[in-house]
Amino acid sequence: MRKEQVVSCPDSLKMTVAIRIRPMNFADIEGVLEIDRISFPTPWPESSYRYELSSNPFSRLWVAEVVQEFGEPKLAGMIVLWLIEDEAHIATLAVHPDFRRERIGMRLLAYALHDSLGHGVREAMLEVRQSNLAAQSLYQKFGFEIVARRPRYYKDNNEDALLMNLMDLDQAALEVFLEGDPENARVGYGQA
Ligand SMILES: CC(C)(COP(=O)(O)OP(=O)(O)OC[C@H]1O[C@@H](n2cnc3c(N)ncnc32)[C@H](O)[C@@H]1OP(=O)(O)O)[C@@H](O)C(=O)NCCC(=O)NCCS
Repeated sequence: MRKEQVVSCPDSLKMTVAIRIRPMNFADIEGVLEIDRISFPTPWPESSYRYELSSNPFSRLWVAEVVQEFGEPKLAGMIVLWLIEDEAHIATLAVHPDFRRERIGMRLLAYALHDSLGHGVREAMLEVRQSNLAAQSLYQKFGFEIVARRPRYYKDNNEDALLMNLMDLDQAALEVFLEGDPENARVGYGQA
């Protein structure tokens, strides 16, 4: 798979001509930190992103940017995965509020999981706040299932985490998600 992908633009993104997914680099950190701070009550510090980019051999980091008719591309979202043996742990995923509900989160997740297949990954897991129904809905669309609860996992408010797992990553289904057609992709999951 290419390390950069340009996907077609949903009609609702008025001035956007494409969504591009590419590896994160150091120049992205400022924009990534802004998205992180808006999106999470306990955002990662800058040092975490620098460490993941420079020193963590298990880390895969991607950004989505919107390419608009005029002006520079805008950073719209990011995802970080840790690939450990045949498992991908989704460490963080967020989309800037200006660009939510445009299936950018879905495409980032699909792209990152698709990439991880090439590294021998066969299943994926993550923790999500029990109150975060938007993210849970996204993950369930991919076939993630809740497999455990981690009581008081989040220290800022003692909220429980739900552990979600996706077994047997399906390359064909992920490719349909990349095209922004989850209704068809869903058919590829849950058919054990
Ligand atoms: C969760 C998040 C990444 C989703 O990104 P997004 O680009 O807005 O999501 P998408 O447009 O790709 O949505 C894909 C699916 O996710 C679900 N979804 C996304 N946002 C939703 C919302 N606000 N309410 C309900 N479902 C939602 C829907 O099932 C949606 O499918 P649909 O388009 O057919 O309705 C984004 O809301 C975000 O950054 N939230 C804050 C950070 C966060 O919670 N990250 C996850 C940590 S575990």
